[in-house]
Order: sequence, then structure tokens, then C-alpha cells
Amino acid sequence: MSSYLDLTIHAIEHPTPDSICLFFEEPEGGMSYQAGQFLTLIAEIEGKSVRRSYSLCTAPGHDPFPAVGIKRVPGGLMSNYINDTAQPGMTLRAMKPLGNFSVEPAQHNARHVVLLGGGSGITPLLGIGKTILAEERESRVSLVYANRNEASIMFRSQWDELQAQYEDRLTVVHVLDEPSAHWQGLSGRLTPDRLIEIIKQLPHLGVHNTEYYICGPGGLMEAISSALDVLGIPGDRRKREVFANDLANASETKTQENIQTEDMAEDPNKAYDVTIILDGEEHTFTVEPGYSILETGLDEGIDIPYSCQSGVCTACRGKLLSGKVTMDETEGLSDEEMEEGYVLNCVGHPVTEGVRIEIG
Ligand code: FES
Repeated sequence: MSSYLDLTIHAIEHPTPDSICLFFEEPEGGMSYQAGQFLTLIAEIEGKSVRRSYSLCTAPGHDPFPAVGIKRVPGGLMSNYINDTAQPGMTLRAMKPLGNFSVEPAQHNARHVVLLGGGSGITPLLGIGKTILAEERESRVSLVYANRNEASIMFRSQWDELQAQYEDRLTVVHVLDEPSAHWQGLSGRLTPDRLIEIIKQLPHLGVHNTEYYICGPGGLMEAISSALDVLGIPGDRRKREVFANDLANASETKTQENIQTEDMAEDPNKAYDVTIILDGEEHTFTVEPGYSILETGLDEGIDIPYSCQSGVCTACRGKLLSGKVTMDETEGLSDEEMEEGYVLNCVGHPVTEGVRIEIG
């Protein structure tokens, strides 16, 4: 089964002057996704094949056309290309929706979903918020959304409409760094202390009934983490989506193993053969020390799916069937995926013989 889709743009909108929202036609064979997941778009730009991941901002089953929001980034190859050239009828290559930053709604749930974000981090939060409000009649949603000024608030009118529609179940708090003189909402930088103050004023449904979804630039994510630490919010109540280029410090190297031979010798400084099973076909190649499984596989002409190449998006994820692999970064993998033996090929290195990884 192919990991790729051809998506035709149905319509475009501009949530802010420097961003675009692409609404896609249903592709051949359909496209299923969970609110909060992302699409990886692939395009030839300036002679290079460029891949970037963008979060879906729509609610599956409610919004007729799945959409991604893309904000211009200074020097950003894909974001500027899309903002400059996208138009209805244009077809873009994409990888199927992926990502663990998502919700699975259930009608009987009565929970409080707190969305904390800044800038273009609002895109997955919008899809998650809309899904919870539409599908869980007993649940509440609160949004705390930080931006520089009024012009940089993405999807403001959609949040206004949602507030009018769900006035008893939705709280929206905008906070602007540099608002105009007419701004009547909160202003100033979102420091941990400020966040604590704001979060304490949100409706209370109890710690174990409240979930926090966090997405935004690195500095804001850190402030939010500190605030939630002070408030004693357990880690299993929080989900966060990290932008690949915000990974300031790689997390500790982690090892995944599925050893089938007793006492298999392990040496990180040796080249090892790796077998990738992709679309039912086996490909074996040698990975030299210091090189990742993904980059070696791509050099060998194998079409291994990938996007961020930083261990964040999980597009290159595969299940380790045997052998041992170390990973430089595991931000993208959930605890369950780690337990089930998944590895990220873009940051993965074989350290024993017999590494076999199944993708898909
Ligand atoms: S390509 Fe994104 S995690 Fe490997």
C-alpha cells in the first residue's frame, strides 16, 4: 500500500496576510486522518525535492475538505513556494496523514481539553478543538493562544464563530505581545507565571479529567512546560507537538532492540547490514558508522518515506523485527510505540548484525 497521495487543491483561504490555508479534494481511495495529525507535502523547488510537514486544521467527519494551514517562514523554501503559487486545481504530492499529536473523540467523554499554543501552532489545535466540541457534548474546550499582534492571529474568525456556537463549552483567551492601542484582550509576554495565572482562571474539571495539548514555538513550549510543572500536571495529561527546527537539544540516545540471537555482539563503530521491508519487498544495504539508516537507504535508491529527518514527525517509522538500533532522538515516538519496538530510521543506526525493519 503506497504511503503517498496526490492531493488537488479545492480552495484556498488566507487566515492572515502571511499564511495560507489549502483545502483539498478527497483523493482517490479516500484519506482518513485524526484531528491534529499532519500531512507531509513534497515539491520540486529550485531543483531540489523538498518535504515539509503541515498540521491539518480541520475536523474529520465534520469539515468537508481536509485542510492544512501554512505560515510563511523567512527563507522557508516550501512555505513561501506554497504561499506564492498555490491555487485551486493545483495537485500536490503528499504523504498520508501521520502523527501522535491527535485526539480520538468518544461521545460519552466528559473532559476538559486545554489547548495552549502560539503562532502557527494553532493549526492542529483548531482541528482538535473543533472535533471535541462537535463530537463530545459533555466536554469543554479552552484555548490560550499567544501571538505578536492582531494581524498575526490565525483563524480568528473561526474561533469567534465557535465561541458563538458553543458559548457554554468553549473559552478562548488571546494574548498579544505587541497589540494595537484598540486591543481589549490580554497583552504581554506569556511567561510561566502569567500562564499559571491564566490557567488557574480556566474552568476546573479536575486534574484527571483535563488534558493539555501544546503546540507553538520553542520558547513558548518551554514556558508552558514550566507552568504545568508548577501546577503539578502529570506528564500523561500533556501532549505536545514540536516543530522539527525547534529541537534545541537532542534528547538522550535511546536503543530499541529485538534480539533473536543470544549474546549478539554490539558495536556502534562498525558497519552493519540492514534489511528494510517496504511494500512487501526486502532491501538489504550496509550502513556505515555515523550514517543513519534513512540516508543510506535513500542513497541506495530505496523510496523510504520521510519528512523532518530529525526524529520528530515519525514519517520514517518502522517496526524493528530483529537486531538492535540506537536512535539519536525519539521525540516523535510515544511510549506505546517505544514498547512495541518502533524505530525512526532518520535518526537510527544499527549496532548489531541482523537488523530487520518493516515499514508500513
Ligand atoms: S523523517 Fe521525521 S521522524 Fe524520521
